[in-house]
Amino acid sequence: LGVALSLALPLAGVSAACSASEGAVSGRGPGGGTQGAAGIGDPDFPEDGNGGYDAEHYDLALSYDPASRRLSGTATLRATAVQDLTSFDLDLHGLTVSRVTVDGAAARFGRRADELTISPATRIARNTKFEVTVAYAGVPDPIRNYANLGTYGFIATQDGSFVTCEPNGAKTWYPSNDHPSDKATYGFTITVPAGVTAIANGELASPPSTNDGRTTFVWQERHPMASYLATMTTGRFETRTGKSAAGIPIYAAVDPAFHGSLDTLYTRTGQITDYWSTVFGPYPFSSTGAVVDDYAAGYALENQTKPIYGGFTPDSGVIAHELAHQWFGDSVSITRWKDLWLNEGFATYAEWLWSEHEGGSTADTVFRNYYAKTADPMWGYPPGRAQRADLFNGSVYTRGAMTLHALRRQIGDSAFFTLIKKWTATHQYGNATTEQFIALAQQTSGKDLSGLFDAWLFQPRRPAPVT
Ligand code: ARG
Ligand code: ZN
Repeated sequence: LGVALSLALPLAGVSAACSASEGAVSGRGPGGGTQGAAGIGDPDFPEDGNGGYDAEHYDLALSYDPASRRLSGTATLRATAVQDLTSFDLDLHGLTVSRVTVDGAAARFGRRADELTISPATRIARNTKFEVTVAYAGVPDPIRNYANLGTYGFIATQDGSFVTCEPNGAKTWYPSNDHPSDKATYGFTITVPAGVTAIANGELASPPSTNDGRTTFVWQERHPMASYLATMTTGRFETRTGKSAAGIPIYAAVDPAFHGSLDTLYTRTGQITDYWSTVFGPYPFSSTGAVVDDYAAGYALENQTKPIYGGFTPDSGVIAHELAHQWFGDSVSITRWKDLWLNEGFATYAEWLWSEHEGGSTADTVFRNYYAKTADPMWGYPPGRAQRADLFNGSVYTRGAMTLHALRRQIGDSAFFTLIKKWTATHQYGNATTEQFIALAQQTSGKDLSGLFDAWLFQPRRPAPVT
């Protein structure tokens, strides 16, 4: 499910910067070319994603050997051309491509930086569906020290892999349209040495099968998913499965080092998934879950249906945050990274709501405590405009959450919670922008909220007190 982002692209600047490379200029440009653009049009991440097609489904048939750290297999992508295409790109970082086909016929391909450019034997006509297969192998190389993002992507661990890809690490393990504005469904067929568990998104399609010392796990994510939310986390895991009180299937897994956390993790995940379903609207996916690995990432990621916690036992506030992302970020996804507060501000506000629900500090108290910190650096960083060089700045989280609380005080609880449910229903499984949220808030409340949103999201200073 792609979004026509190219309209927002400053084409002149981008084509000048990339004019020597293949496919940099959109086929819809004045040249009337038929090369899919090398980026999907996110002004802050111009190389991410690709133009010219809309990804619909990925089938990833991959083997991973933790001892040699080698990943190999075939990715199949079904997509629809949104323009005539004589070539198009996928994002891929490292790894060696051995063969590419388009609709069954061998296709020429080239590599340049993190772009895999594919030239099918025959031109793909606009509005037609096509299927690409990419056979590849190698030792995945995660992205390291990208601004303040740490290490992310496919990370090898002692016993397997820890795979967390926000914002653009999907390309470290599968060729993809690596940007949240082009969501797709996924199938995963993952083969690992017997004794290793492979965990991906969605549900197991069949029980794992073992042959010749290797076990294959088949997972299916039937709801559209942003590329950064896909995972193939592997290793030794203890698992517990069942259903929440409201009937949502749960898959919880912990590295044996976290043996003592499994039952609480399982129970909390079910309880919080059920609680958010009453606050945010029906749970959008077919199962919920949690994975604790012993890789000390120091962060968690809201992998769709399978939030992952890197090297720590999450307290209920962190679980509440990652599960809130299933609605805000995973089901309703951002269209451009600068709108990241729509994910992190909402998930942080969910932590405050959970605290209040548990009898801890109320959301209003948490808000007041932050508002009293007059020297906090968040006042200088407008959260409605997450910066490429500092995407996960604390302001995007905290001041983003404060924006929602200020809004709630201005429009009242009834309009606020109606708005939240409308937001998740209107954009379920899709993409949205800050402008759309502001418009829906004004429509739902019948109030002009432009001053409030401008002060809270876009000004580099502490807003006046909420009246
Ligand atoms: N979305 C995650 C969370 O707040 C944070 C991901 C951080 N990503 C990174 N590459 N450091 O739950
Ligand atoms: Zn978050």
